[in-house]
Amino acid sequence: MAKYLVTGGAGFIGSNIVASLVKAGDKVIVYDDFSTGTKKNVQDYKQTDVKVVEGDVCDAKSLRKAARGCDYLLHLAGCAGVEPSVKDPQTALEQAFQGTLNALIAARDLKVKRFIFASSCAVYGESPVLPKEETMLASPFNPYGAGALVGEELARVFYATYRLETVCLRMFNVYGPRQSVSGPSAGVVAQFCASILKGNTPVVYGDGKQSRDFVYISDVVEAFRLACTAPKAEGEVFNIASGSRMSISGLLNCFQQLLEKEIEGDMQEARSSDVRHSLADVMKAQEVLGYRPRVSIAEGLTKSLVWYKKNLGKAVRR
Ligand SMILES: NC(=O)c1ccc[n+]([C@@H]2O[C@H](COP(=O)([O-])OP(=O)(O)OC[C@H]3O[C@@H](n4cnc5c(N)ncnc54)[C@H](O)[C@@H]3O)[C@@H](O)[C@H]2O)c1
Repeated sequence: MAKYLVTGGAGFIGSNIVASLVKAGDKVIVYDDFSTGTKKNVQDYKQTDVKVVEGDVCDAKSLRKAARGCDYLLHLAGCAGVEPSVKDPQTALEQAFQGTLNALIAARDLKVKRFIFASSCAVYGESPVLPKEETMLASPFNPYGAGALVGEELARVFYATYRLETVCLRMFNVYGPRQSVSGPSAGVVAQFCASILKGNTPVVYGDGKQSRDFVYISDVVEAFRLACTAPKAEGEVFNIASGSRMSISGLLNCFQQLLEKEIEGDMQEARSSDVRHSLADVMKAQEVLGYRPRVSIAEGLTKSLVWYKKNLGKAVRR
């Protein structure tokens, strides 16, 4: 049994990690300000398994107190999307810098075994070169990507200077149960599930030919767990994705086939902050972490639809 502190543990990815850790018999402290996450995501546990601490990662003292006695610190709290970071770069970048620095200092001082940072493919920016490899130049083109890169750099420096074992996971488009269907951290799969299940027309920005590397949540959870213990992962950055891409129109087609009904998209103007295509090379994660993306898009979408059918209107509406 190990003890984990998960910042952002009440959010989509964080709460799925918490569920997996508890299932494995580990103890978890969730540290979250509930700005986009919900208490419902973390309330159904025994207090001896999961302790929930409400706090901001920018509050160094409170974060450090919560992290006492932890073996691993998983840092996922922060601005969860491009749009809010464009609207309010001050808050997004303050959280990225100060929140991550506070978490790293706490991890170093409390002698945490490993620090895992939730980074993003947004660090690659606009470069059209595919697939993205970790050795490529990071060149974000929005404040969200800049925040992810700031976090990665701080983690790298703490490994180089203090030998704190840090691992950065550059996640691509994560989807699955508990992702918000609206608000700053909503994802396209969650939005499509909600629209389709409610009988509305899913909104497609641009021509629908833009593509993404969609990765199912259980594969991402597995990556976090592997990152905690895999030898030779410290000080490294890894792409976490499926290693294949699908266009937004292709995604709608998949829903059509799964539900055996015609689904039209509500075509709207492209968003300037969106990259055209995104695809990861996941070889490094496979070789060093032993990571294997296991869930196909058809399986992942089926599981997502089942979950949203049951839960729409409950935890997922912010
Ligand atoms: N969802 C994706 O596809 C994706 C891809 C790449 C990277 N990421 C990163 O992974 C992390 C988690 O993303 P998510 O999709 O689960 O988003 P989410 O919004 O569901 O989760 C973020 C959580 O952090 C909490 N939080 C935000 N600011 C905080 C602060 N200052 N102090 C304490 N808690 C705070 C929120 O309340 C929420 O529970 C984010 O950092 C995001 O940038 C997500």
